[in-house]
Amino acid sequence: MANFRWNKDLELAIPAIDGEHRELLAAMERLQSLVQAGAPPMPVRTALLQLVRLTRAHFASEEAFMAARRFPRAAEHAQIHQGLLARLDGFVAGHAAGTQALGVPFFAFLEFWIASHIRGVDRLYAEHTPAPAPPAASAPRRA
Ligand SMILES: [Fe+2]
Ligand SMILES: [Fe+2]
Repeated sequence: MANFRWNKDLELAIPAIDGEHRELLAAMERLQSLVQAGAPPMPVRTALLQLVRLTRAHFASEEAFMAARRFPRAAEHAQIHQGLLARLDGFVAGHAAGTQALGVPFFAFLEFWIASHIRGVDRLYAEHTPAPAPPAASAPRRA
């Protein structure tokens, strides 16, 4: 059973982003609880699609945040998001086709993503100090 509980070392001290990470963890926890309880396919599907929606929205808001901070590794970070989404989409498609059960490998993937991505990759932009904006052009001096 994967662990999706919030803990202090996931905190980036950026309230909006921390809130989204908490939402993602809660969505993962909800999905795992449904699967473990042997819930019927429809609620499981709904919870899975909700997780995908939250994930896409979260990645988009992180990417906007990185752009606003002029984080130099934003493009690399966005590529990692694309890779995670591709894997998530693969599970979703397999689940829809009935070829992929949401079992241990799926929840292990989610747990690994949360643990390693937030603590490792997200922390990089959280700790990045934005470069100061270029100085405004000053008015020509009078002699
Ligand atoms: Fe994140
Ligand atoms: Fe991220």
